[in-house]
Amino acid sequence: MAATKIIILIGTMTGTAQLCAQEMELALGDDETQVEALLMDNLDVSVFDRDGAFLICTSTYGQGDVPDNARALYEDLQRKRPDLSKVRYGVFGLGDRTYAETFNYGGKRFDDILTELGARRVGERYKHDASSGVLPEETAVEWCQEWVSKLQEGNRAPA
Ligand SMILES: Cc1cc2nc3c(=O)[nH]c(=O)nc-3n(C[C@H](O)[C@H](O)[C@H](O)COP(=O)(O)O)c2cc1C
Repeated sequence: MAATKIIILIGTMTGTAQLCAQEMELALGDDETQVEALLMDNLDVSVFDRDGAFLICTSTYGQGDVPDNARALYEDLQRKRPDLSKVRYGVFGLGDRTYAETFNYGGKRFDDILTELGARRVGERYKHDASSGVLPEETAVEWCQEWVSKLQEGNRAPA
């Protein structure tokens, strides 16, 4: 069977999402799964032309905004509105429930725009809560292993 390719796109302000992505990359990479983790800085919509499934790993800032390094990619999606019907993705979001009105909106914003553009989400959007005391990098490893299983089930299922 061909290797599963996964591209993790990282939106972060203070590095927590990047740490989660690094742990996911280590946990998933093997003979059957190729993983590439990219900071969103300087990316545009053409990143979605790549072959593979996308894992959006992003925190939330400001008033429910995507982090600064994710803004250019997010705005490019809004402006160009490409057809992403061939894209499959998952969302590992980071936030803090103290921000009750905008909890995990960074991940939600990407989820909403990708769905609008025709991409298909695999699994539920994960919402990490920094005020919970649960370490995000540990949850990330468990969550991404389940996510990849769902992705591979989808690959085997008839279209
Ligand atoms: C100034 C500031 C604003 C934030 N705004 C939100 C918010 O609106 N919603 C939310 O869920 N989390 C919010 N957070 C929490 C961060 O998203 C959370 O701490 C996350 O783990 C940071 O990840 P990062 O280091 O990858 O940027 C905010 C944090 C800071 C410091």
